[in-house]
Amino acid sequence: MRNQIVAGNWKMNNTTAETELLLNNLLEHQIREDVKVYVTPAFTQLSQSVAKLEGSPIQVAAQNMNAASSGAHTGEISSSMLKGVEVNTVILGHSERRSLYGETNESLKEKVDSALKAGMEIIFCFGEELNERKENKHFDLVKEQLSSALFHLPNEAWSQIILAYEPVWAIGTGETASPEQAQEMHAFIREQIQAHYTAALAEKVVILYGGSVKPNNAQEIFSGEDVDGGLIGGASLNADDFMAIVNAF
Ligand code: PGA
Repeated sequence: MRNQIVAGNWKMNNTTAETELLLNNLLEHQIREDVKVYVTPAFTQLSQSVAKLEGSPIQVAAQNMNAASSGAHTGEISSSMLKGVEVNTVILGHSERRSLYGETNESLKEKVDSALKAGMEIIFCFGEELNERKENKHFDLVKEQLSSALFHLPNEAWSQIILAYEPVWAIGTGETASPEQAQEMHAFIREQIQAHYTAALAEKVVILYGGSVKPNNAQEIFSGEDVDGGLIGGASLNADDFMAIVNAF
């Protein structure tokens, strides 16, 4: 049985006061023990969130990190800085990082290697743009994103990897992949892992879906056999909506 995971990607939202309020609201909910729940605040709110969530099952992850361990990288954050504030999970490869900040499959490979070397868990995001789906190139594109950043890894590294398939056309648009489209892609991803590694490993890797998951569509999307949960943007900013999604399994 694979872990079921729901992670809230807060993006560039929530000041200190807003973080306090959202975390208080989340903590008012009974958190199920059979679903792993993460929130990913901005760097400046990580320590606050870790302190506030101490003793709760909700884990704190970061939204990005630099591949270098230290040095002349103005404005960047390293794995040791994250670990220093007790954050051991990081999102890498989000489509906004790829499209707005020039991250590529090659640079993500370096980040993946660096995060793994530091012993971090990775939520690795990937997915096609609308034109790529319209041109029926989405499977090839996803295969390329996975193989160039992840398929050089040894078997054992995969215990630290959570995949998040996020079709770019569904992120923040209110348009979701249909449950069939999500399941079809997740099954394809598992096949790719099986082809490069083993069936046993493919069976174990957690694959999240992301892109306009809301309380009213989560249950249907999560019902796919190969869909193990979600990476939630907009709906993670409201505690009731986020917890409704956690409870949609
Ligand atoms: P969304 O964002 O839920 O607002 O579409 C998902 C994401 O960017 O991870």
